[in-house]
Amino acid sequence: MPDFLVDEAIEDYAFIHTSAEPELLQELIDQTNLNMGWPQKLSGRLVGRSLKMLAALTQPKVALEIGMFTGYSALSIAEGMPDDGRLICCETNPRAIDFAKGFFDRSEHGHKIEVIFGRALDTIESLNLELDFTFIDADKRNYLNYYERVKEMTRPGGLIILDNVLWSGKILQPESEIDDILVETNRRIAQDPDVENVFFTVRDGLNVVRKLP
Ligand SMILES: C[S@@+](CC[C@H](N)C(=O)[O-])C[C@H]1O[C@@H](n2cnc3c(N)ncnc32)[C@H](O)[C@@H]1O
Repeated sequence: MPDFLVDEAIEDYAFIHTSAEPELLQELIDQTNLNMGWPQKLSGRLVGRSLKMLAALTQPKVALEIGMFTGYSALSIAEGMPDDGRLICCETNPRAIDFAKGFFDRSEHGHKIEVIFGRALDTIESLNLELDFTFIDADKRNYLNYYERVKEMTRPGGLIILDNVLWSGKILQPESEIDDILVETNRRIAQDPDVENVFFTVRDGLNVVRKLP
C-alpha cells in the first residue's frame, strides 16, 4: 500500500512546512519503526497535526479513538484537548497498548488518555457517553458501523474524523468487499442530512465530519 497519493515531492514539502510534532512523538515514531510490525500504520505528522489543530480549536471534553496502535494519534489529539479532557482509546493489540502506555506515562497529556482493550464495537456499546470528538482509524470492515454508532453518540456540533478514506485510491476502482465498504461509507457521509463534511486529500484521505446542531 503506498503511503502517498499526492506527488511525493509535494508531500515532502507539506511535511516540512507543517509544525513539527513534539520530541516525544518523534521518539515514538522512531521506536515504533524499530520495534513494532507494520510501522506504516502510524498516521504521521500531517494527520497528527491536523488532529491536534482540530482538538485545539474545538476543545473536546470527551473524545474517542477507534484504533490507537502505538499512541501517536492519541497523544496528538490529547495535546489539543483541555487539561480535564478525557480521550478513550479502543485497541485490540496488547503489545501496542503496552508500548503506547510507556509513552503516555512520559507525556504531560497522558493523564487524559484511557485505553480499553477489546473490539471497538463492543467497547463502544459499553460506553454511555456523549462524544465531542472521535477519530476512526481501525478495522475498515466496520467503518460504516463505527460511523453510524458514533454519530448517534455525538453531540450536535461534535466532530467525527475518519482516516484512510482514499484507501490508497482504491475507492475509484473498488475490487474487494473492504473497498466497497469504504466507497459506501464515503457515499453515506456525503449524502447524510445530519452532517456537514470536508473530504481532505491529506495523506490517505481524512474525512472531517461535523454533526449539525
Ligand atoms: C491504523 S492503526 C491505528 C494508528 C493510530 N491511530 C495512529 O495514527 O498512530 C489501526 C489499529 O487498530 C487496531 N484494531 C484493529 N481492529 C480493531 C478493532 N476491532 N477494535 C479496536 N482496535 C482494532 C489495530 O490493532 C491497530 O493497532
